[in-house]
Amino acid sequence: MCGIVGYLGDRIAREALIDGLRRLEYRGYDSAGAAFHDGDRFSVARETGRVENLAGALRESDPQSTLGIAHTRWATHGAVTVANTHPHLSHDGKIALVHNGVIENFADLKRFLMRKGVEFSSETDSEVLCNLIAHHYAKLEGEENRLLEALRKALARCRGAYGIAVLCADQPGLMLGARRGSPLLVGLGEGETFLASDASAFVGRVRDAVYLNDGEIAVLQEDGFRILTMEGEDAQAVTQTIDQTVEDVELGDFESYMEKEIYEQPTALENSILGRFGEDGTTAKLGGLEGHEDTLRQLDRIVFVACGTARHACMVGEYLIERLARVPVEVEHASEFRYRNSPKAGHTMVIAASQSGETLDTLEAVREARIKGLLTIGITNGVGSSLARETDGGVYQRVGPEIGVASTKAFTSQVALCGMLGLALGRMRGLSPMQGREIAEALQALPAQVSSILQHGEALRELAQKYSEAEHLLFLGRQELYPVALEGALKLKEISYAHAEGYPAAELKHGPIALINPECPCIFVVEDGELAGKTIANMQEVKARKGPVLAIAPEAVAIPDEAADDIFRIPSSHDITRPILATIPLQLFAYHFARIRGLDVDKPRNLAKSVTVE
Ligand code: F6R
Repeated sequence: MCGIVGYLGDRIAREALIDGLRRLEYRGYDSAGAAFHDGDRFSVARETGRVENLAGALRESDPQSTLGIAHTRWATHGAVTVANTHPHLSHDGKIALVHNGVIENFADLKRFLMRKGVEFSSETDSEVLCNLIAHHYAKLEGEENRLLEALRKALARCRGAYGIAVLCADQPGLMLGARRGSPLLVGLGEGETFLASDASAFVGRVRDAVYLNDGEIAVLQEDGFRILTMEGEDAQAVTQTIDQTVEDVELGDFESYMEKEIYEQPTALENSILGRFGEDGTTAKLGGLEGHEDTLRQLDRIVFVACGTARHACMVGEYLIERLARVPVEVEHASEFRYRNSPKAGHTMVIAASQSGETLDTLEAVREARIKGLLTIGITNGVGSSLARETDGGVYQRVGPEIGVASTKAFTSQVALCGMLGLALGRMRGLSPMQGREIAEALQALPAQVSSILQHGEALRELAQKYSEAEHLLFLGRQELYPVALEGALKLKEISYAHAEGYPAAELKHGPIALINPECPCIFVVEDGELAGKTIANMQEVKARKGPVLAIAPEAVAIPDEAADDIFRIPSSHDITRPILATIPLQLFAYHFARIRGLDVDKPRNLAKSVTVE
């Protein structure tokens, strides 16, 4: 949510900043801007709309500075206007700042600054922080480390979350960064240093990076960098090699990141499970859970906390883990869990799932769980993310960067990892070696099965074309396919803006059936075995009311002609892996549905990747 990139080096900053912003655009695409140090002042360009608008403006102004900061915005405080676009300059022109996050007490600080005569030109909390730094900077005239001290004094007065990059007109070779609750890292190149909210901003230019911890400040200078605590003490700077490649973050032959990531799922799933089975092939071994075996054996309850798509993955996990390990599982909206006083019951483990590892609601839920003394485990794709650092243990998804705003490969990987967890916990309890082996084999078969579904992308495009006029759609499934239905509906609505809802198939009769008419298609995800017949009966109820029916069904399930208008077949499989196989066609359906409507699937209206505000 919003992206920051800063450059200090021996090359002209413009190109590096624009490249970085293009890579960060998935974090926010309302407006973008850049500020360059230019003699003893700043030159600033700000444009509403996409990064390309800013790139065009900068091609014309052609700034030659080698020091600059840039930002792509997802609006929180204030509308999408040039005035609200970052970077912000202080009223005296001394300070330039880009900011991710929210300063909660900005109104009080703004009143304070207005009493001192500061005039504001935007509605943002970020401009308040910028002026607060300038206020302290002015008061510290003649003092050593003046900008750093001003920054520390200003941040000490702020409540809320921030990742910031700051320049000072008086200091042509200095950039400061600070983080609390919003990611920031320093990229270390040859003769150049970057500051960014996400490593993708400098992939291909930089191999090593230092991730800031919450409450740390980065001081970037021409001759190197330092990491300090908020108290101004030296902090440990741990250098990590960035595992992303240019191919990971570039589109290649695909039209969109969403499409690329859907098609990456066989590899993503393979990487997620690779090397994570026990030697005898009957259990799963998740390194991040090592050391917690005693707690895992004694577990009385698991509580998943997550948001959006990640929460749907956890809901599938609830079915899988309860079935395999017979441990009671609950799934909570992270945003609800953090404010609820849920009773403490026996040995409870809290599992937080988050692709980015930076979703604020999920992080706050984890912090709350830790205050309550519960074991916390993270499932995340964000290497070095806040979630990875703040949990007692965890499992990395290893699916590579997910850039499409609509989550796809992260979802299927999270479901697979929940299956692995269910297998590991199950084998610690009643699951026999034979059952364990069957499940391990089913999980290992996934990449090939997913590939075989992806070969039928054209059939799904035709189905999407057929239903693309629909403004209301229902998605229905039972058991572990119910959260799959929820995910199918979420995917469709977030990228196509059609209204879509997911329900348990049997719930249809308890209300939603009133919506059925020839303009309201129902998409059923069908189980195998006993329950398939019941879902087919629900399909017939829809057909009897002239509702169009599309069924996503395993090959082995016979569906009478009169029960469905269209059937898309997925391979027959173990129950544990069917949720993943059934999801793939729903992702492709949503993708084509939105493309046929001429929409930009990577940058859906009002959305941004990684929600780092409440
Ligand atoms: C939907 C989507 C969101 C995210 C949610 C949580 O396609 O991407 O619903 O799943 O914002 O994000 P993470 O997983 O990063 O915590």
